[in-house]
Amino acid sequence: MKKNLLLIVVLAQCLFVSAQKLPDGKARKTIDQRVDSVLKLMSLEEKVGQMNQYNGPWAATGPLTNDNDLLGQIKSGKVGSMLNVTGAVRTKELQELALQSRLKIPLLFGQDVIHGYRTIFPIPLAEAASWDIPAIERSARVAATEVSAAGVHWSFAPMVDIARDPRWGRVMEGAGEDPYLGSLIAKARVKGFQGRGLGQTDAVMACAKHFAAYGAAVGGRDYNSVDMSLRQLHEVYLPPFKAAAEAGVATFMNSFNDLNGIPATASTYLQRDILKGQWKFKGFVVSDWGSVGEMINHGYAKDNAEAAMQATNAGSDMDMESRSNIQHLAKLVKDGKVKMAVIDDAVRRILKKKFEMGLFDDPFKYSNEAREKAQWNNTDHLAAAKDIAKKSIVLLKNNGVLPLVKEKYKSIGLVGPFVTAKSDNLGFWSYDWPDDSTRIVSVFEGVLRKKTPETKLLYAKGCNINDTSTAGFAEAIAIANQSDIIILTVGEARDMTGEAKSRSSIRLPGVQEELAKAIIATGKPVVVLVSAGRPLVFNWIADNVPAVVYTWWLGTQAGDAIGDVLFGEYNPSGKLPMSFPLTEGQIPIYYNYYSTGRPATSDSDRFYRSAYTDLSLYPKYPFGYGLSYTQFEYSDIRLSQTQFKPNEKIDVIVSVRNAGNYDGEEVVQLYVRDVTGSVVRPVKELKGFRKIFLQKGETTEVRFTIGVDDLRFYNDKLQYIYEPGEFRVFIGGNSRDVKEAGFTLIK
Ligand code: GLC
Repeated sequence: MKKNLLLIVVLAQCLFVSAQKLPDGKARKTIDQRVDSVLKLMSLEEKVGQMNQYNGPWAATGPLTNDNDLLGQIKSGKVGSMLNVTGAVRTKELQELALQSRLKIPLLFGQDVIHGYRTIFPIPLAEAASWDIPAIERSARVAATEVSAAGVHWSFAPMVDIARDPRWGRVMEGAGEDPYLGSLIAKARVKGFQGRGLGQTDAVMACAKHFAAYGAAVGGRDYNSVDMSLRQLHEVYLPPFKAAAEAGVATFMNSFNDLNGIPATASTYLQRDILKGQWKFKGFVVSDWGSVGEMINHGYAKDNAEAAMQATNAGSDMDMESRSNIQHLAKLVKDGKVKMAVIDDAVRRILKKKFEMGLFDDPFKYSNEAREKAQWNNTDHLAAAKDIAKKSIVLLKNNGVLPLVKEKYKSIGLVGPFVTAKSDNLGFWSYDWPDDSTRIVSVFEGVLRKKTPETKLLYAKGCNINDTSTAGFAEAIAIANQSDIIILTVGEARDMTGEAKSRSSIRLPGVQEELAKAIIATGKPVVVLVSAGRPLVFNWIADNVPAVVYTWWLGTQAGDAIGDVLFGEYNPSGKLPMSFPLTEGQIPIYYNYYSTGRPATSDSDRFYRSAYTDLSLYPKYPFGYGLSYTQFEYSDIRLSQTQFKPNEKIDVIVSVRNAGNYDGEEVVQLYVRDVTGSVVRPVKELKGFRKIFLQKGETTEVRFTIGVDDLRFYNDKLQYIYEPGEFRVFIGGNSRDVKEAGFTLIK
């Protein structure tokens, strides 16, 4: 036995050594050595070229600069990366140009693959509502597989901005309001995009964005200023970025906003002190579109030269589309305003990723038409999209009318502007393909596939998404009167939430609410589907129909996922990743607020917690909320002990019973409150969850283990500490309806 073991060890060592040796016996260079060998050959202008990213000539995702010498600059090594160039043919075409440069340094192709490429998945905020971490990772994995087959090396995702203001259109791109859930999802998405590691042909570089605190823009107005304590920055907005960095994310993207008076693109604190310093990040930072040059508009740089100097010295390595770097960095180095060492560090970081992606060994590795074609209609990808779409749907109200018993209805009325919608299911940051009209499943098709042959489907659009015409109402009312039940679709068009789509009113656009009132007035049972990229306000409808299903923007498989839920083939399990306000006047509203000196325990406490005199304190739907077709009952919390020391752990246990008539999934959520701290602490903080499946009548025990690391927070010195004292623990199916217990952390 020992001999065999020894033989295996020796063989392994030989294999390891040979892997490090070239055929001629010379030692294989490490990537760092290969980077340095290229760096040594580069002129200053060639180095600066690597720090320059241009948009391709075919599509744009920001304000374009006219540049008729784009291709010439690629050929002369003045461009390190391109964005918005996809497809094996086009990426090959531009890569061939780059290889005509003196040092033949290959281009990186970057793309916004936020929730799918060929197969469009639910928007990230919808996926967050699934609380299904493996499914979220799979979604990014599929996106990476498809887009890497289309010649792309780098996805500008995940967007990990915490957001507490649904007026901000980019809430659709993130994971909502909670740092704990947002951190787990950030990690899952990075792992999904980067797969088994950079260099695998189905892996792409991920990009944690927008660094940082972009989601805290004043008034929810995109690109607006952000001002907050460093403590809140570290406690609420940085954790998902830290999680992405710890997960090995290849790149970061800085953000448009100024943070505490400094544009994030020029923030040394964010990019060097925290990211490259404390977190030891070894990748590179790309600016957001034009954000280097926009520092002039911020009133922080007097011109593009100063902007390039400020951004580069602060740790922004690559300039997306502002042309500040390419036009000024070489002179700034010659004038001593930017050290060559700073340039070399940025270029090393960029070259290292190109080596890790294998682009120096084979620049056309990802530009493979056969592989692109093979990934073009992958049925497994469609199945993955439908799976997470079902899991992302949130049942907000149901008086028992759902699930639909298909044999019960002789006629089902389908009314509303989203019934036959195709592309409006894709949401913002998606891609249109010529076969979308057949490939995307509409609500109508989803219901058609589920109903019995005998059931008649009646359809009327009723109104448009966003105009004042009520001309379609009469037809819709007539259809409703001929139907046993109506499925009414309301919501936002795909471009009404997303970048530069902040809204002061988050109500249903156009005359949709009026249409709903007319349909509800028929007295027939109405099931409302809400198609949206953000929390909306639709209180009258919600209070006057028997069932409300939040279907977000579910992507290519939307209709089939919705059909499965409506007819009970899938019992909805989604939970809201953001609080839904009663009205815009409540914003910002979130679950993990501070107690204040006058905590309110009900709406009648008028002198408490800065209550409104004209509005409830509480959201329409709280964070973590979502119903099921069954009911889950929670036992009281049991604790393994009521106090513990820092070197110990405490178990927190509940029994959960499926007390209803349907098998189903429940997201059991664990919240903790630090009752007294050296700084005030939130009344609740999500510290754990389990998505469990229970057959009807089944009971299971759910156990969480808490240690001091779960109790840490940033004190007023920005130390990440825990403190002995009293804690409350809460467990439930949302952040409001919880069981409670207490324990003590002793010295
Ligand atoms: C946009 C967005 C950013 C995106 C980039 C490239 O302005 O802010 O998220 O990745 O430009 O499209």
